[in-house]
Amino acid sequence: MKATQYQGNKTFSVIEKEITPPAKGEVRIKVAYVGVCGTDVHIYHGMMDKRVNFPETIGHEMSGVVDAIGEGVTNYSEGDKVVVRPLDDRLVKDSDKGYNHICENLKFIGIDSEGAMQQYWNVPAFVLHKLKPETDLKLAALIEPLSVATHDVRRSGLTKGETAVVLGGGPIGMLVAMVAKQVGAQVIISEVNPTRIQKAKTLGFDVINPIEEDLVKYVKSKTDNKAADVVFEVAGVQPALDVMCEVAGIRGRIVMVAIHGEKKPVDLFKFFWKELSLIGARVYEKEDYEQSIELITANELPFEEMITDIQPLSNIQEVFESIDKNPSGMKVLMDCSL
Ligand SMILES: NC(=O)c1ccc[n+]([C@@H]2O[C@H](COP(=O)([O-])OP(=O)(O)OC[C@H]3O[C@@H](n4cnc5c(N)ncnc54)[C@H](O)[C@@H]3O)[C@@H](O)[C@H]2O)c1
Ligand SMILES: [Zn+2]
Repeated sequence: MKATQYQGNKTFSVIEKEITPPAKGEVRIKVAYVGVCGTDVHIYHGMMDKRVNFPETIGHEMSGVVDAIGEGVTNYSEGDKVVVRPLDDRLVKDSDKGYNHICENLKFIGIDSEGAMQQYWNVPAFVLHKLKPETDLKLAALIEPLSVATHDVRRSGLTKGETAVVLGGGPIGMLVAMVAKQVGAQVIISEVNPTRIQKAKTLGFDVINPIEEDLVKYVKSKTDNKAADVVFEVAGVQPALDVMCEVAGIRGRIVMVAIHGEKKPVDLFKFFWKELSLIGARVYEKEDYEQSIELITANELPFEEMITDIQPLSNIQEVFESIDKNPSGMKVLMDCSL
């Protein structure tokens, strides 16, 4: 079988490997599609070289079919369509208070251990979620990032009729916006990249470029001056941190989705003045995956529009080089049959 390996130094190789039987408690998956995540691009850039034990197969946004069952696995059969929730929480402790998805010793599969960018992948059965037989495996590769979005929206407590502002219309921001709209909220996306602004418009979103237009004024004009009930920070840049406290109305909830690797200034006075709340949101829990699976199965949201390219797995080097050159696409999938 073909497997890809990150070799460090912006290099991937494609190797031939033996297909191995699944160990006790494991399942072997024939991987169908793997999406390229922003985190994979960070790995490619060498920004996670301390964490990734390369040469390593990476990738965690996937769909596939159960190909073989290890000893002791009873709830899956060959041919089942599945996705992996790539969280290895086997080292969970009482002090983690039952929040396994953010436990202190959490290992992220596909970063801290072998991932999905290969034709067959052995994983412990407890990370699997079963899909309905009719599920489209291309769309199913979006379940992992969509689960980030369902988690974020659930953490926000967003309700019908509220106004949500999404700062950053990248793949995660766009999925957050879709889930927020589905809740029945008024959704406004703030994005600076012209290609992504166009994409958001095509998907029917109210989107503005905060460099060209005053975001706070615009949101106030759409809310009888009340401003946003919920702000999702999904851009990860200082201007978004500056505007999030401005665009949130009284008792607004700000959800921190973006990963800020270092300390950044935030206007804490606004938290006092407007009684704002700041809510952290990291990956997803089982129920967020279940909700995403339902959304993908129902296929009523414009998920297909999120997939901007599908490339053979063996083109992995070209795929990362082209994302690097033009990062304004949405989701690139790798077809693992090729
Ligand atoms: N919380 C989690 O578990 C989790 C999971 C996945 C990703 N993330 C994080 O979420 C963030 C978004 O992920 P992504 O893959 O969509 O990233 P991305 O970089 O593709 O998207 C960010 C978007 O913000 C836009 N942007 C830049 N400056 C802006 C500004 N001033 N105002 C508005 N928009 C602006 C960019 O043009 C880009 O489209 C990243 O920080 C990522 O690390 C968090
Ligand atoms: Zn991801």
